[in-house]
Amino acid sequence: MSDATVFPVPEDLAQNAWVDEPRYLEMYQQSIEDPEAFWAEHGKRIHWFKPFTKVKDVNYGPGDVHIRWYEDGTTNVCYNAIDRHLPTKKDDTAIIWEGDDPSEHEYITYGQLHDNVSRFANAMKARGVKKGDRVTIYMPMIPEATYAMLACARIGAVHSVVFGGFSPDALAGRIQGCESNCVITADEGLRGGRKVPLKANTDKALESCPDVDTVFVVKRTGGDIDWNDKRDVWWDEACAAADKECPAEEMKAEDPLFILFTSGSTGKPKGVLHTTGGYLVYASMTHKYVFDYHDGDIYWCTADVGWITGHSYIVYGPLTNGATTLVFEGVPNYPTASRFWEVCDKHKVNIFYTAPTAIRALMREGLEAVKRTSRSTIRLLGTVGEPINPEAWMWYHQVVGEGRCQIVDTWWQTETGGILITPLPGATPLKPGSATRPFFGVKPLLVDNDGKPLEGATEGNLCISDSWPGQMRTLYGDHERFVQTYFSTYDGLYFTGDGCRRDEDGYYWITGRVDDVINVSGHRMGTAEVESALVAHAKVAESAVVGYPHDIKGQGIYAYVTLNAGEEPSDELRKELVTWVRKEIGPIATPDMLQWAPGLPKTRSGKIMRRILRKIAENDYGSLGDTSTLADPSVVDDLIENRMNK
Ligand code: PRX
Repeated sequence: MSDATVFPVPEDLAQNAWVDEPRYLEMYQQSIEDPEAFWAEHGKRIHWFKPFTKVKDVNYGPGDVHIRWYEDGTTNVCYNAIDRHLPTKKDDTAIIWEGDDPSEHEYITYGQLHDNVSRFANAMKARGVKKGDRVTIYMPMIPEATYAMLACARIGAVHSVVFGGFSPDALAGRIQGCESNCVITADEGLRGGRKVPLKANTDKALESCPDVDTVFVVKRTGGDIDWNDKRDVWWDEACAAADKECPAEEMKAEDPLFILFTSGSTGKPKGVLHTTGGYLVYASMTHKYVFDYHDGDIYWCTADVGWITGHSYIVYGPLTNGATTLVFEGVPNYPTASRFWEVCDKHKVNIFYTAPTAIRALMREGLEAVKRTSRSTIRLLGTVGEPINPEAWMWYHQVVGEGRCQIVDTWWQTETGGILITPLPGATPLKPGSATRPFFGVKPLLVDNDGKPLEGATEGNLCISDSWPGQMRTLYGDHERFVQTYFSTYDGLYFTGDGCRRDEDGYYWITGRVDDVINVSGHRMGTAEVESALVAHAKVAESAVVGYPHDIKGQGIYAYVTLNAGEEPSDELRKELVTWVRKEIGPIATPDMLQWAPGLPKTRSGKIMRRILRKIAENDYGSLGDTSTLADPSVVDDLIENRMNK
C-alpha cells in the first residue's frame, strides 16, 4: 500500500469474518462481470411469496429512465423482518430499547414484536388506512416508532418518517408533499432530559393539512396536550381493541415501501421513494457484510429513525437478519459524556455505528469519560454521514476501540438506500479518512465537470455507472425532477452530488458535496431551504447561505443577509432571525454565523457568486479568484471587512 498510515486486517478477524480479502475481490469481480447472476443469487436471501424470474431492468437514460429489480416477485418486508424468524427466534430479543433516562430500558422479543406490530397494523386498518396510503410518522426514538414503520410495511401502506426535530411548518410541508391522511406521533418526546412538544407541533402542522383524518398518539411523557376527539386516537387504546393477528400483505417487489424527504439544491425537500424487494435485499445484505454481523451479535446504530440510516440500519437491515438492534432515545452527552460507552457496557454491544460529529463532540470531552467505561464487548466500530477527519478516526480507533476494533467508514445517501462505498471488516486494510472500496455490484466512476471519465489516481465528481437493488426509484410525484436531479448532469450516470478523490490503491476519499447542499452534524441541508426561511421574514430582502468548516459539526451554516431598505441591523435582529430559522425549519438549521450584507456579490446578469461567499465564510481571502465580472466588485471588500469572527 502506498500510504504510510494503513491498518491491516488482523489475521483472526480475516479468518472469522464472512469475507476476507481474496473473497471480497472474487465476489466483487463476479458482481461486476455478471450482475444478473450475482443479484439473482443474493436476491434469494429474503423470503419471497412468489419467487422472481426477472432480476434487473434498468435504464439510466436516454429515454425512459427507470429502475426495477426482481420485478415479478412478491414478498412483504414486515414478514421478512419478523414472521420469518418466529420458528427459531420467537423468544430472542429483537429490540433493546434504552430510554433517555438511564434508568429506563426494555427488551422486546421477536414474538412480542410480532404481536405489537400486528395489533397496530389492525388499528390502522380499523381507521381506514389501506395498501398504498401514505402515513406520516413523527415520533421520538421509542419502540412504537419501529412498530409503526413495520406495521405500515405489513399492510402495504407507505410510510414517510419525519425527524422529530423538525418544526410544524417543515412537518406540514412533508405531510402535504406525500398527501398523507394519517399521522403517528407521541404526546411529547424526551431528549437529553428536555421535552419535545410533538403533539402540539402536529396540531399546528395540521392547521394546513385538512386531509389528515387520523392522528395516533403514543403516551410517552403523559404531558398536557390538546385533543380532537374526531381525529385523535390513543395508540394504547387502539391497540388494546385490535387483534394480534394481521396477515402480511403480498406486495410486488416494486411496490413503494417508504418515502423519505431529503434536502436538495432547491428550497423544496425531495420525497425520495424506495420500493420493496430490491431495497430489502440490499439493506439486509449490506448489514450482514459491512458490519460482519453474526447471529447473536448485539448491534447498535445511534441514528434516528427520521433519517435513512435509521430505516436501513436500525430497522430493516438488522431485523431482516434476525439481529438484536438497539434503539436509543437519548443523546450522546446526557446525563454525561460517557453515555454511549455506558450503554455499550450495559447491553454488551458488539457492533457500534455512529456519526463523525458525535465522535468529535465526545473527543472534546477528554479521555476520562471514555476510559472509565469498559467497552470490552465492542468488536467493530462504524461511522456514517459525513467525511471523518483522520484525527477523529484515530481517536475512535485508539481510544474508543483501544486499537482492537476495525472501523467501517460507510459512504452512502438517502437515495442509495444502503451503503455503497465501505471497508469490509475482514477484507479491507484501512486508511483513516477513506471510505475505501465499493460494495459488491457498485461501480463508482469519477468524472470531470464535462462528464469525461477520469482514470487512476485522480479527483472528480462521484457518479455510479450501474444500478444496485437498493437504489431509489423516483421522487414521489415528480419523476421529471428525479431524472433532472440525478441523471441529467452526466448522461447515463447516477450523479451523487459528492466530490471524491481516488488514490493509487483505488481507495475512495469523499471530499464533500459539490452542489448547494451542506452537511451540518451529519444532517443534510439545502442552502436554499435556509435562504427561503430567511427571506420569509418581513425585514429580510435577500439572503445567501453557504457552509464553512466547523470543528464539531463538520460544516457550519453561514448566512449573509440583506435587509429591506429602512431596516437597521442590530444584534437583537440577528438573534431574532436565528430564532426565526429555528422555528421555520428546526434547530438543526440554526445559522452559526449571520452577517449583514449591504450587497451580495452578483454577476451582471444577477447571479449570486457563491464561490466568493464560500471563500469569505472560510476566511480564505487569498483565493477569491476573479471578481472583475461582478456587477459591483466593492461589495466583496465590505463583506471581507465585516466578516463574522469565530
Ligand atoms: O456528502 C455525503 C455525506 O452525506 C451525504 C448523504 O446524506 P444523507 O442522504 O442525509 O445520508 C446520510 C447517511 C447515509 C452524502 O452525499 N456522507 C454520508 N456518508 C459519508 C458522507 N461523506 C463522507 N463519508 C461518509 N462516510
